Amino acid sequence: MKREIGVCYYPEHWDEEVWAEDARRMVEAGIAWVRIGEFAWSRMEPDPGRLVWDWLDRAIDTLGAAGLKVVLGTPTATPPRWMLAKHPDMLAVDAEGRPRGFGSRRHYDFSHDGYRDECRRIARLMGERYGRHAFVHAWQIDNEYDCHATTLSYSDAARRAFRDWLAQRYQSPEALNRAWGNVFWSMEYRDWDEIDLPNLTVTEPNPAHVLAFRRFSSDQVVRFNRAQVEVLRKLTDRPLIHNYMGRTLTFDHWAVGADLDVASWDSYPIGFLSDRIEATPEHKARYLRQGDPDMQAFHHDLYRGVGRGRWWVMEQQPGPVNWAPWNPAPLAGMVRLWAWEAFAHGAEVVSYFRWRQAPFAQEQMHAGLLRPDSAPAPGLAEAAQVAREIAEMPEVETGPAPVAIVFDYAASWAWETQPQGRDFDYFRLVFSAYRALRRAGLSVDLVPPDTADLSPWKVVLAPGLATLEPALLEALGSYRGVAILGPRTNAKTAEMAIPVPLPPNLPGLDAVVARVESIPPGTEVPVAGGGAFAHWAEEMEGTAEALWHRTDRRPAMVGAGALRYLAGWPTDGLWDRLVTEVAAEASLPTEKLPEGLRLRDAGAVRFAINYGPEPVEWQGETIPAAGVAWRRQ
Ligand code: GAL
Repeated sequence: MKREIGVCYYPEHWDEEVWAEDARRMVEAGIAWVRIGEFAWSRMEPDPGRLVWDWLDRAIDTLGAAGLKVVLGTPTATPPRWMLAKHPDMLAVDAEGRPRGFGSRRHYDFSHDGYRDECRRIARLMGERYGRHAFVHAWQIDNEYDCHATTLSYSDAARRAFRDWLAQRYQSPEALNRAWGNVFWSMEYRDWDEIDLPNLTVTEPNPAHVLAFRRFSSDQVVRFNRAQVEVLRKLTDRPLIHNYMGRTLTFDHWAVGADLDVASWDSYPIGFLSDRIEATPEHKARYLRQGDPDMQAFHHDLYRGVGRGRWWVMEQQPGPVNWAPWNPAPLAGMVRLWAWEAFAHGAEVVSYFRWRQAPFAQEQMHAGLLRPDSAPAPGLAEAAQVAREIAEMPEVETGPAPVAIVFDYAASWAWETQPQGRDFDYFRLVFSAYRALRRAGLSVDLVPPDTADLSPWKVVLAPGLATLEPALLEALGSYRGVAILGPRTNAKTAEMAIPVPLPPNLPGLDAVVARVESIPPGTEVPVAGGGAFAHWAEEMEGTAEALWHRTDRRPAMVGAGALRYLAGWPTDGLWDRLVTEVAAEASLPTEKLPEGLRLRDAGAVRFAINYGPEPVEWQGETIPAAGVAWRRQ
């Protein structure tokens, strides 16, 4: 597969005189793709209905004539000020009931019909003008759904749309009352109009109500995206893409991705380490200038799944960012390493954000490949190195990995709604399993919760899936590999109730979760033979064989054949033990890797990637800090 690098560019930020020189320098650096347009609505349509395309025509022509392929973004994440005057009720509203105002970006409500129509209109106008343009090779729809926590809105538009959604799902208020258990605390409704959004209640709202609202809110994102897809499909045959984010679970990316051709995401490893993952201070200090060794890979694997094999990094950190609590500079070599890591996981394109650092407005402290004075920033040479190396590198295939993790957005909504222990977090649980697999040198696929055929994988992990989808249950029934479920798998009905028979209720496994407990940080439930449960532990009953015991003799993992149920949240040590045992059973070779080194198998090529700040020895080879090595197996 052909790999390429790209860059994000904002022609509207610069004098037109510099465009040609910028384009020439991009090409000189080996850049093939340039993404433009996604925030430029106020320049495309300065006043309602007055469209000004000439500058964009010239920008696309200048970039294209230099040899660049353009990704054109629809500008719907940044409605201009006049839009708000036209649709004063288009703003999202926060949980406290305050409108989220104009003056930054993403100030719109996914449920606002008038705004969705405006987005359809601008997408149609752009599609008509550029849909068959020779230099426009791909489209980006909107920008980072949910960025700045914008999926959930408590507006009047959302309330109206939620009532409609409920009416379609439940058909009658009586059915809704039954499904939610509204007899509890006399919460029964007689009419759809009596149902509000689940905010501003005296104490916690009914979890079934919250979960319904979370599902609805996700569906609104899918619907919003689809509105533009439907328009653009008719006007272009180029791939339609959205740029997702890291650790963002408020909407179902599998569902949005089903309407698109390529998934992409925006990768800011150092920013994420600082503000998006749980880790010890020592870990954060060690990886300060590199980012966490598994965070990027996790999302590469996730979005490869969401894109059904086709995915890009649409924005790649080029130097210090501006938005994390602290913003260190990358270790020399990381701007290159991050790109190669993405290619090793199957990315088609890695596109750096951004070309030149803007000296004005919100992101003036965010690095680009160029400094504000147009001199090269340190990232440029590394990006250019990647472009040169691409020519020499082996082909990267993306066949199935040996291990799959089932990843379910709805499970995250369920456990956010009812964590039962303050630190029970779905992403954190899944990520802890993923990290252990990677510490053992294994490559991983992330698969959706309705996966109906598990036969490509030798091992499947499904921790924390609140509700098992029928397709997955059936697939597990005939699965020949080793499947590890739990903790908290199949623990709720789709309406957020405790199922009877009690969980996990798995075919062929006589095991029942009789009682659960959450435990605070610093406390553990030890498991005999080494390791422990943290955060969460379950007491099991039933005749299924106990494969592990807790030191108090209760079962810690039960199994029947190749099906296992894990009765707690393993510490890292216990995950390592589990991965070693299960890999041996599935005849998967594992390796104890040096700290910070990670492997990725891509077809016949094995990549070794050193996130550590010092060189490591691996199979007779020295891999420098921030180094990447590859070899044919
Ligand atoms: C992304 C966003 C970009 C820019 C960047 C800064 O979240 O898509 O527009 O804001 O972050 O790191």
